[in-house]
Amino acid sequence: MKQQLEAIRNAAEKELASVKLPAELENLRVKYLGKKGELTAILKQMGGLPASERPAIGVLANEARTFIEDHIAQCGAALKEHETESKLSNEKLDVTVPGDRHKIGSRHPLTIVLDQIKDIFIGMGFNIAQGPEVEFVEYNFDALNTPQNHPARDPQDTFYIEDNILLRTQTSPVQIRVMKSQKPPIRIIAPGRVYRSDAIDGTHSPLFHQIEGLVIDKGITMADLKGTLDGFAKSIYGEDAVLRFRPHHFPFTEPSCEMDTRCFVCHGKGCRLCKGEGWIELLGAGMVHPNVLRNCGIDPDEYSGFAFGMGLERLVMRSFGIDDMRLLYENDLRFLSQF
Ligand code: DAH
Repeated sequence: MKQQLEAIRNAAEKELASVKLPAELENLRVKYLGKKGELTAILKQMGGLPASERPAIGVLANEARTFIEDHIAQCGAALKEHETESKLSNEKLDVTVPGDRHKIGSRHPLTIVLDQIKDIFIGMGFNIAQGPEVEFVEYNFDALNTPQNHPARDPQDTFYIEDNILLRTQTSPVQIRVMKSQKPPIRIIAPGRVYRSDAIDGTHSPLFHQIEGLVIDKGITMADLKGTLDGFAKSIYGEDAVLRFRPHHFPFTEPSCEMDTRCFVCHGKGCRLCKGEGWIELLGAGMVHPNVLRNCGIDPDEYSGFAFGMGLERLVMRSFGIDDMRLLYENDLRFLSQF
């Protein structure tokens, strides 16, 4: 029996040395230590031994059992370690391989220039204001000192929703909303969409964008208007931009003016861009009319201010040399991907 035990021990050691899979290990455990296993079979025979031999064989049998159990445990640990290692090496990530590039698109040219303009005015201490595109006739016209018989009120020029509601034709009604809801000092710009009943062509669209500006405080003069707009134009077109202010008429400002920049293509000689004028109109502006201040509950004897309004599309078309406004709305990727 002693030899049998030794033989089992040696066989188990040998077989365990070549185990590669957890299932093989389990089979060996059953083969040697299981209920019907080889070692168990021997232990069962011990009852037939003379009582004097039993203790010595018992010790040997236990040693053999412990020996095999230890080896199985070691072998199991080694298998597990190997499994973890191969898992790690299979899953390893090469961070130096170039990734998949996602196409994220680019900003629309209208947004690019609007962001520039916002940055400039925010830098001068302005806030951004907003108003609805569906607006009261009163705010779009009456409160802006634009009388009942003004041509801009003609249904051929303006989209009416109801008698007293329209799609705003300008961002100027935001001036009214801001002055009615805030106390001076006021310093805002209000970018947004506006609508006019115009047929589409290279320079017209029934929907376009304006940027309104409004400053109200004590002692504001035309000098503040000129200084602010001069600073704005030079930020956009460069320090050497040459500007001029021309008298003009708007119902909601008095006096009113338009600001031109000397053509930055021909420098005043006259070219296609400036249509031979040598100057390019940038915006309309003026000192807020006392009637408009009164309409908003602001005392014109105490406060004064200036306002301005510009068309975003025109600025964008000039900035990028775009000669047809329709390109800005058609969402043609061949056009948009250039920005
Ligand atoms: N709202 C005018 C337009 O659509 C532009 C404008 C001119 C706005 C002068 C102003 C301003 O605030 O002072 O033509």
